[in-house]
Amino acid sequence: MLSKHIIFVGFMGVGKSTIGQRVAKALSRDFIDTDKAIEQRFQASIPQIFEQWGEPAFREAERETILDICQDNSSKVIALGGGAYLNEDIRRVCQQCGIVFYLHLSWEQWLKRLPLLRDDRPLLQHKSLAEIEELYQRRQAIYEVNTTKVVVDGLEPDEAAEQVLQRLQHLWKQEKETDSAPRGT
Ligand code: S3P
Repeated sequence: MLSKHIIFVGFMGVGKSTIGQRVAKALSRDFIDTDKAIEQRFQASIPQIFEQWGEPAFREAERETILDICQDNSSKVIALGGGAYLNEDIRRVCQQCGIVFYLHLSWEQWLKRLPLLRDDRPLLQHKSLAEIEELYQRRQAIYEVNTTKVVVDGLEPDEAAEQVLQRLQHLWKQEKETDSAPRGT
């Protein structure tokens, strides 16, 4: 378990990259933002990719990129785009190769961030608030699948990162105890 990737999932703009970078720094691990890796691959921004190639091409590149990154043996901290964990292959590989944290921000708190997010998030454009809320609510159950949930309402990024680190210490301790327990005869 010590060598597994640490992976962040959750809705757009909840702080996966900001918190992920802080966790990576604390653990002296490399950090990867999968959206940035996809942008490099296309040599274009996420809104440009959606506009020129369409969402299905983005989703396929997202799937391939994340599967590649997760196969890497050196353990990293990885922030996924908000829609990635909906893909079954991505969920499977994340569960095999990582410890997955679901960063949850309540709808009320998230709404305050919406004006800052809209321009760079194609999925938030041309949608009513009711449609965005429906997307938000529909995804919550999927983020819960085999993840450790951390509620980030009211937390500064450093505080949220600290909570993740504490959970990790706990998980690693449990794992160590299981490994060193005498096996039954
Ligand atoms: C998306 C989330 C975005 C980005 C793309 C699609 C989604 O990443 O991958 O705009 O489907 O929720 P962030 O979660 O980093 O905003």
